[in-house]
Amino acid sequence: MENQIELLNAQFALTDELLFQPGENGLPKVQINNGLASAEVYLQGAHITAFQPRGGEPVLWMSPLAQFQRDKAIRGGVPVIWPWFGPHLIDKNKPQHGFARSIEWRVKATTALSDGSTRLQLQLKDTPTTHALWPHAFELTLTITVGTELTIELTSCNTGEQTFVAGGALHSYFAVGDVKKIHIDGLLGHLYIDQLDGNRIKQQNDAICIREEVDRIYFDTEDTCSEGICAIFDAQFLRQIYIKKSGSHTTVVWNPWENKAKSMADFPDDGYRQMVCIETANAVDDVRHLAPGETHTLSQTIFL
Ligand code: BG6
Repeated sequence: MENQIELLNAQFALTDELLFQPGENGLPKVQINNGLASAEVYLQGAHITAFQPRGGEPVLWMSPLAQFQRDKAIRGGVPVIWPWFGPHLIDKNKPQHGFARSIEWRVKATTALSDGSTRLQLQLKDTPTTHALWPHAFELTLTITVGTELTIELTSCNTGEQTFVAGGALHSYFAVGDVKKIHIDGLLGHLYIDQLDGNRIKQQNDAICIREEVDRIYFDTEDTCSEGICAIFDAQFLRQIYIKKSGSHTTVVWNPWENKAKSMADFPDDGYRQMVCIETANAVDDVRHLAPGETHTLSQTIFL
């Protein structure tokens, strides 16, 4: 392990800006600190666990009970969901939300950009383990750019000989002062599947306020708001978080509320009050068909 960290630092560290370190339970993580912001990324799942603009507060919510176990998804931050969103359509024994979030990715490149931001690229390719879950050849690249904004781009490439169908999401957990004192803009008028009401299709007729468990998949959201932006207005933290996206026509809004929070071992009972998930997704019929050699990029930029 120490050896792995040393090797990674020898090849990819950027002086005063990007360093590899042993994280919780010894899992390798990347620490980024530049003049604009700081961030932390675990190689397992290419999972961003922190992002904080310089002089600002944490933007992402991390569960204080997150387990950081090898081959297990981490609760909070930005899990990378791929190649399917939610339960597997046919085989319910396969992991919910695919496998990309629970496998260690490799480092492809690190770059100090001229505008002061830092870029980290991680990569995941198919292996016998992934073939047992999903029989396709692929190459995934996650490009994370940490500056005043956090940009996350997930590029999937079909490196096999057959067309495949893949869904996914950047399952972002945002930190809020009190979920009862936020509203979410940008989804007005959109239809959504209410996953808590027999998958009924409903329409969003006003800004979203969260007063109970919410688990919705919104459609046709590429152009949310006039400029393709979703926003969380937080009356307690007195801030707005904006999420701009591309390569995605579905947006998921999730808050487990009290009972579901209590049922999750890695989620504090009252943790639902400090978070909300807004997920840039390729869910339901927004999955992508990739022919051999084709690529698709799902991306989001988070800013205050
Ligand atoms: C959301 C789903 O994306 O993720 C919810 O819409 C699910 O149904 C939630 O409960 C959390 O999933 P998991 O697998 O991380 O517990």
